[in-house]
Amino acid sequence: MTVASMPAVHATGLHKRFGKVHAVRGLDLTVQQGEVVAFLGPNGAGKTTTIDMILGLSAPDQGTVSVYGHTPRGAISRGQVAAVMQTGGLLRDITVRETVQLNAAMFDSSRPVDEVLDRAGILEIADRRVEKCSGGQQQRLRFAMALVSDPGLLILDEPTTGMDVAGRRDFWAAIRADAVRGRTVIFATHYLEEADAYADRIILVRQGTVVADGTAAQIKNLASGRTVKASVPVEDRELLAGLPSADSVAFEGARVTVRTRDSDAVVRYLLNRTDAHDVEVASNNLEEAFLALTGEDAAPQTSDTALEGERAS
Ligand SMILES: Nc1ncnc2c1ncn2[C@@H]1O[C@H](COP(=O)(O)OP(=O)(O)OP(=O)(O)O)[C@@H](O)[C@H]1O
Ligand SMILES: [Mg+2]
Repeated sequence: MTVASMPAVHATGLHKRFGKVHAVRGLDLTVQQGEVVAFLGPNGAGKTTTIDMILGLSAPDQGTVSVYGHTPRGAISRGQVAAVMQTGGLLRDITVRETVQLNAAMFDSSRPVDEVLDRAGILEIADRRVEKCSGGQQQRLRFAMALVSDPGLLILDEPTTGMDVAGRRDFWAAIRADAVRGRTVIFATHYLEEADAYADRIILVRQGTVVADGTAAQIKNLASGRTVKASVPVEDRELLAGLPSADSVAFEGARVTVRTRDSDAVVRYLLNRTDAHDVEVASNNLEEAFLALTGEDAAPQTSDTALEGERAS
């Protein structure tokens, strides 16, 4: 495998338990170099736990993670990966510039401090003491610290929490400008709009596994479709494998729920080919689809929910 074609992150079969909590349950993830990927999911979905394993801050109970073909710690010691975490890691009594200088001193080679401050949009406040910086400015400072080693992979765990709308927009503009140069970015967020606006690819995580994976357009397409529900006799269930245009098929008792972009084709098939009855058709909105895919009470999804197949083609 050539270095350029090696994935930035390759994780297979990850599991992590905290006592009784099974936080990550068989998660697979491959992120190619240069991708900007959003990890989207509700509280407790396992995003931070997964990120910690990618960063080598914790070890998986099962499964493997490699970062540019190395162990997470190996990749970090080579300066190939850096992270912006939500809190911590700043000294209050020194200035913004001093903070970045200190950080730079930890690496054999690093970017010039003022260049990094400029890219993070905080060159103007370089002489301000950290304790005087707003929450958004401190987040940019963490971003600047992450840029010092010029990492190939940047990981951001909910980096804009607590920022106002303008701060959020500016922060993402800085990240985007940086990603254009080929940096790989993985960020965790609760916000569908943030994922949609800034990621090339969205990975929906629920209860420790990936429930959908695709471009923002594919995820929105999934969301913009319709849901068809019907009662289907058990003996007809295998006919559902032939359903046209089905994004997902899920069973709950006697009812089957089909997500589709072509509800006409699904209804026609159900009525002509099976003894389906009590057919209902409802349209999804983006928020509903997100909740349906990530909500705690969501029905179990069949494997074709994930858009992996579509991505591969
Ligand atoms: N150190 C820990 N000890 C015990 N339980 C933990 C620990 N870390 C995480 N968990 C549990 O694991 C599950 C996943 O947590 P995680 O922080 O990965 O979720 P998340 O997707 O990052 O959520 P959020 O969006 O709220 O940040 C949660 O149920 C959480 O309570
Ligand atoms: Mg988290």
